[in-house]
Amino acid sequence: MESKKVCDGVFWVGALDWDRRLFDSLIPLPDGTSYNAYLVKGSDKTALIDTVDPSKTSELMARLAGVERIDYIISQHSEQDHSGAIPAVLARFKDAKVVTNSKGKEMLAAHLGIDPAAIMVVNDGETLSLGDKTIEFISTPWVHWPETMSCYIREDQVLFTCDLFGAHLASSSVFVEDDHETCLAAKRYYAEVMMPFRSAIKKHLERFSRYEISVVAPSHGPVHPIEHVGCVMDFHRQWVSDKVSNTVVIPYASMHGSTEMMVSHLAEMLSNGGVRVERYNLAVTDTGRLLMAMVDAATVVFGTPTVLTGAHPMVASAAFVINALKPKAIFASVIGSYGWGGKSVEQITSMISGLKAEMLEPVVIKGRPTQADFGRVEVLAGLIISKHREAGLF
Ligand code: FEO
Repeated sequence: MESKKVCDGVFWVGALDWDRRLFDSLIPLPDGTSYNAYLVKGSDKTALIDTVDPSKTSELMARLAGVERIDYIISQHSEQDHSGAIPAVLARFKDAKVVTNSKGKEMLAAHLGIDPAAIMVVNDGETLSLGDKTIEFISTPWVHWPETMSCYIREDQVLFTCDLFGAHLASSSVFVEDDHETCLAAKRYYAEVMMPFRSAIKKHLERFSRYEISVVAPSHGPVHPIEHVGCVMDFHRQWVSDKVSNTVVIPYASMHGSTEMMVSHLAEMLSNGGVRVERYNLAVTDTGRLLMAMVDAATVVFGTPTVLTGAHPMVASAAFVINALKPKAIFASVIGSYGWGGKSVEQITSMISGLKAEMLEPVVIKGRPTQADFGRVEVLAGLIISKHREAGLF
């Protein structure tokens, strides 16, 4: 298998996973993914930046088949989709040193059993000379593990960012081909993986702004050439900003139609009042789409029926994931129904306690909604509309 040129002396040697449809047994991958590894050939030494998922080790090794020597295997991130093939690379290139930071050293030992004696520790700002190429290590913790770091080739102005700026997108082209497709995949990736780390990303973007960057090379998805570098940075600046949009996201489930009737009435009232609505019936929703909607929505309203005295499991699951991903929503509420009793609304309310959102009075009803119940939904809609107005969202 061939390597693919990124720029003079820098080659993509990763693996494409066209058929993968789920990551972490949780995240849908409608477009597959890639595990990007990069071979950097200097005049004196050769380095490999990251490896691939263990399931794709043979593809990486096939791309390295003609390579005679690797001096350094740089591990930017210890999660196995990037580090999993390090043992195989070490077995083939026996003199290679694994290069990472001190946290990475601990993690590579814990996750892959890599001998600490084979690891060379580097610190933020240190450089590694390959002869005519100098790799600078930039500490970028919490995108999305504490040990993550980036690499920058000073002579070529190539920035390698591992998961940051990544996209789950398999493509036969190393570089971005379709801006719109890449942007959507990057937003989905940000929503599913990076959203809780907004403040860390803000700091990293600030630091990167002091570098001249001609290429951004993440470890998932397409490489961004110079004409796309500003675009990928600007989108991330927008996503991590405190700005929210005039949007209400409604994730819901319904069993006999009562909750759905409430959701429909709420959506209609909000829309009539000038607020944008994205509603997601969780029985048929791609979780990634829901999470993308949460990137900048001002408000989330969960709709849940009652199952065995508690919330519907699909709504509970969505609430759990949304709470964990800490979106920047500033208002939240719950609407729901029950047959004979239960605590579904209280349960969802407590499950989203990690959101820094003002809780608006939930609406819970018994059985099919009556005119009086619809009136309560209208009160909630009116409150959301006025809150959005007061927040200057429209
Ligand atoms: Fe792509 Fe955090 O691994």
